[in-house]
Amino acid sequence: MTHGYEMRGSYTAEKNPAQARFGRIFPKAAVGKSWPDPAALGKRGGPMDQGTSHGQTPAPDGALGTQDNPSIPAAFTYLGQFIDHDITLDPTSSLERQNDPEATRNFRTANLELDNLYGAGPASHPFLYDRTRPGRFLLGTLQGGDPADPAQRMDLPRNAQDVALIGDPRNDENLIVSQLHLAFLRFHNAVMDDIDIGLGDDGFSADEGKFDRAQRLVRWHYQWLVLKHFLPATVGPGVVEDVLQNGRKLYDPNNKAEEAFIPVEFSVAAYRFGHSQVQPGYLVNPGFGAGLFPGVINAPIVPRSDLRGGPLSAREVVNWNLFIDTGLPRGGGTRFSALINEKLVAPLLNLPLSVVPVLSLPDGDPQRSLATRNLMRAAAFELPSGAEAVAEANRLGVNIPLVPSAQIWSGDLQPFASHDVPLWFYVLREAAVLADGKHLGPLGGRIVAEVLIGLLQKDPISFLVAKPDWKPMFGRVTGDFDLVDLLRKAGMAGT
Ligand code: HEM
Repeated sequence: MTHGYEMRGSYTAEKNPAQARFGRIFPKAAVGKSWPDPAALGKRGGPMDQGTSHGQTPAPDGALGTQDNPSIPAAFTYLGQFIDHDITLDPTSSLERQNDPEATRNFRTANLELDNLYGAGPASHPFLYDRTRPGRFLLGTLQGGDPADPAQRMDLPRNAQDVALIGDPRNDENLIVSQLHLAFLRFHNAVMDDIDIGLGDDGFSADEGKFDRAQRLVRWHYQWLVLKHFLPATVGPGVVEDVLQNGRKLYDPNNKAEEAFIPVEFSVAAYRFGHSQVQPGYLVNPGFGAGLFPGVINAPIVPRSDLRGGPLSAREVVNWNLFIDTGLPRGGGTRFSALINEKLVAPLLNLPLSVVPVLSLPDGDPQRSLATRNLMRAAAFELPSGAEAVAEANRLGVNIPLVPSAQIWSGDLQPFASHDVPLWFYVLREAAVLADGKHLGPLGGRIVAEVLIGLLQKDPISFLVAKPDWKPMFGRVTGDFDLVDLLRKAGMAGT
């Protein structure tokens, strides 16, 4: 299964959140809502179309485009996608289900614990791991490369039909998230190497086995990265601190749910903000740039002329310096994510067969538009409108201004002015109107911060609960750890 199928785990959404993986934080939409037509709002050439073309690549001079967001690096778009794939893992569509139909409770929780990386661990998912190097992940070799040469192990491991052997197939949906997944695999392996030579002891527990320690350290460094870097950049100033100091007000504020769950307002609306951060194409390295997806939904993947997932050769390896400030000169390309607003790029408005593998949706079908799909999901899940969500958030004690409908539906959105505002669309417009698209607005930011922080707070083995004063050990700056540190430790940047 890939990204385009049923909302994973959603069948449990209406059950008691204590048993469900999905739940709600706001009441459903009031009856009689008048939603805009998803196909009209989300179509190519419609008001959500950024006006880019398929195959569009960034200017090699690295000039800032009008849709670039200098506050958020391009790499964070794909870190955001990676995080989504970590926390919304669904037993019905993942490797887990095949081995463990009765999935244990632990397995079914939605935590920031990298099950998209580790699967069920070396004993249950041995095909993810390297039999010749205990405790390490198996890595893949670049096309045409020598498998014996460690420098060529820069792709995900793949089976004989080039399907990536990873904990979540969606992490091979595009080349950038695929290379980020590789960075996490290599980061874990580097931590194992340290532990093997007696390094990597943070004094937490003397009883941990080597693999368990490596896994915990990787998870905690990742959780730090999410809490201290990804979230603050994404949700705007002060929000993370407020949630940590004054508590959650929206997401399970009284800790009634026994386990972490994903609210549909997060997965179907607020956290889909990332779709507007995607650029039409990327300069992947100084010698190779391409559009994200092809213009024709079933275009051949080889030879590679776009950035769909799948095997790659040496000329297509991501140079992370073009995606985040690694301290090296920029040298052109796209270092930034796109602004958070209602505009999506062409490749997302006609998703290829590799992303939505539904043959009955031909080229140009409205349901190949990610915008249309998001709007349809919101209606299907009876999500509240933006105004209803703001009113409820205020009732629950978060002080949030409402962006009036007239301001939401301004400019070329005016023809939709008589309609209620779907929550995802509100979150995007709110970011554009109140934060110039640099970060999420008050409602979107609050939902995203509360859920991600809540997932950590509801996880007894997160660093926030198990050792709140813990500090990372693999950063350039003592006591800190960011994405560049992870890439460096993985041997993929700034070396
Ligand atoms: C190239 C980039 C991306 C592509 C092609 C993509 C594509 C998709 C597709 C096809 C869906 C399913 C839509 C549906 O049928 O309901 C989806 C769901 C979703 N996406 Fe993305 N996405 C991308 C990036 C992102 C980013 C950057 C984020 C967040 C930062 C994100 C967050 C989500 C969430 C929360 C869901 C719903 C839950 C889930 O299935 O995980 N996506 N995406």
